[in-house]
Order: sequence, then C-alpha cells, then structure tokens
Amino acid sequence: MDLIDFSKHHKSILGLVRSYEQLKFKEEQPGKASIEKEKEIPLESKVALITGGASGIGEAAARLFLEHGARVVIADVQDDLAHQLVASLTDYSGNICYHRCDVRDEKQVEDAVSHTVTKYGSLDILFSNAGIMGPMTALLDMDLDAFDNTMAVNVRGVAATIKHAARAMVAKKTPGSIICTASVAASIGGAGPHAYTTSKHAMIGLMRTACKELGAYGIRVNCISPFGVGTPLSCAAYNVEASQVEANCSAIGNLKGVVLKANHVAEAALFLASDESVYVSGQNLGVDGGFTVVSGSYSVS
Ligand SMILES: NC(=O)c1ccc[n+]([C@@H]2O[C@H](COP(=O)([O-])OP(=O)(O)OC[C@H]3O[C@@H](n4cnc5c(N)ncnc54)[C@H](O)[C@@H]3O)[C@@H](O)[C@H]2O)c1
Repeated sequence: MDLIDFSKHHKSILGLVRSYEQLKFKEEQPGKASIEKEKEIPLESKVALITGGASGIGEAAARLFLEHGARVVIADVQDDLAHQLVASLTDYSGNICYHRCDVRDEKQVEDAVSHTVTKYGSLDILFSNAGIMGPMTALLDMDLDAFDNTMAVNVRGVAATIKHAARAMVAKKTPGSIICTASVAASIGGAGPHAYTTSKHAMIGLMRTACKELGAYGIRVNCISPFGVGTPLSCAAYNVEASQVEANCSAIGNLKGVVLKANHVAEAALFLASDESVYVSGQNLGVDGGFTVVSGSYSVS
C-alpha cells in the first residue's frame, strides 16, 4: 500500500494555510473586501427576468442566478408550479417572485417587464427561455395552426420580450444582457420537428439583428443552444422519462462521459448574464458537446 509522505507536502500545505490567512486578512480590511466579494458574486445587485422559469432549464437558471446574487422574476403560464418553486426557495425569499405571463401576448410581456422594474428597481438580464416543442408530425401532415402557435411562442414571444426588456434597459441606461434559449435545431435540420426547427433558426436571426441595434446602447444579445435535456418539454414530446431522454442523447451525442443536465445549460446562461462575458454579443453558444459541428461521415478505424 502506498503511504503519503506528508513531509514532502509540508511546504505546500503551509503555503495554502498562509494564502488562506492572507485572504481572510484581506477580507477583514475595509475597502478590499468589496473587490473579493465582487469576484465571488457575479450577479450581485443584478435583476433578471426569466421566461419559462417555472420548469426545466428556466428553473435551473432561476436557482443558479439566485445563488449568484441576482434578484429574479420568473414569468410563466404554470401558476401552481411557479408558486411552489418560489415558496420552496425560502433562503431567497424577497429575492424571487412569480409573474404570470403568456409570452404570445405582448401586453402581458410589457406588464412582466414593468412589474420587474417596479419590484426590484431595474432590469439587467433577460433570459428569454420559454418555449414549446410544437407538433411532432411529418411535414406532409403539417398542421399550420400548430405551426403558427409554435412560432408565436418561440419567435414572436422572444421578440416581444427582447423589445420590452430592451426598452426598460435603454430607459435606465442599463448595459443589460439578453440571452435567448435556442437549440441544436437552430443550426441544423433533422434535430427536431419542423415548426420547432424553423422557429429556432428564426431566433438566431432575431438575436443577430437585435445585437446590431442594441449594441449602440451597450446591451448584449446572445443565444444558448442546448442538445437534448431531460425536461418536461422533451419528455412530453417523445413520451418518455427524463432518464430515457438522457440515455438516447448520450448514445447519439458527440461528447462522451457527461450527461447533459438543465444545470449545465443554466451555467452557460450565467456566464452570458455576468460581466465575465462583457464583450460577448451576437453569439450562439452551443451547449451540445460539439454535436452541431461534427459529422459522423468520416472515421478512422
Ligand atoms: N429540453 C431540451 O431538450 C431542450 C433542448 C434545446 C433547447 N431547449 C429549449 O429550452 C427552453 C426551455 O425548455 P425546457 O426544456 O426547460 O422545457 P420545460 O417545458 O421544462 O420549460 C419550458 C417552460 O416554458 C413555459 N412556457 C411554455 N409556453 C409559454 C408561454 N406561452 N408563455 C410563457 N411561458 C411558457 C412552460 O410553462 C415551461 O415552464 C425552450 O425554449 C426549449 O425550446 C430545450
């Protein structure tokens, strides 16, 4: 059996203890504490509006943003679920609330934005994440009313949230961050149903054109594009459990050894929401393990 020779590590352990003592001392010194704190709490004093925040990726982002110092308004149409979520977050009560908002209705979006600004004083981050999978049918059997509804949630809804959030940011001269949840289906065909793929491709165009205009106000606009995550959206669409979504995605995914979870997507949103990405705008950040940039047509055996 290998025994650890602590004498060899003595110096480095002592070094670590000293660094910790110095850090503690720095934090106790007035003036320096705030610099340390700023690094540790990336969303401190920022206010975020998260659509689709009652479930899945939006819920994971709401939790993560709170943990990183933000005040959060979740906007959704699932009242019971959203109220349960807010009630469960007792450590953050006062820093999170729910506002009902169907993103297809511009007035409700405008109200959600104005509620956010009235309640918390500003709007720094919009996470426009609400979405639906839409019809799962073949193109030859396409129901165009269902197609319209998918576009109304996934594109019109996102456009409405960008419009009203940006207005609030411009009015308060806030250098805000807008993040929209697209998908791997925003970049390639065949990764999702037809209306969904169309809507997510459109979202990339919307994000880019918004990036152009809003850059003049110091507002950044980006998308995140996840591969499959086991959320109610994907489970309902394919009528399977989350574990089955994960198993299927792991089998066809490019990056092995990691199972994609809602929290991994939320971490990407946190990066784009924070000042860590202060010069990143107009990008579609894939959280897909490389799925959309590789082809399986060549391999070395
Ligand atoms: N789960 C995945 O595999 C996956 C992959 C790529 C992209 N996405 C995208 O991620 C986003 C979040 O989806 P999710 O997987 O967390 O699913 P989810 O169903 O858990 O969450 C979506 C939320 O959006 C809300 N919503 C739906 N229609 C709305 C409307 N009209 N107004 C307001 N809220 C509405 C729902 O009530 C729900 O709470 C969606 O835009 C989806 O397209 C998901």
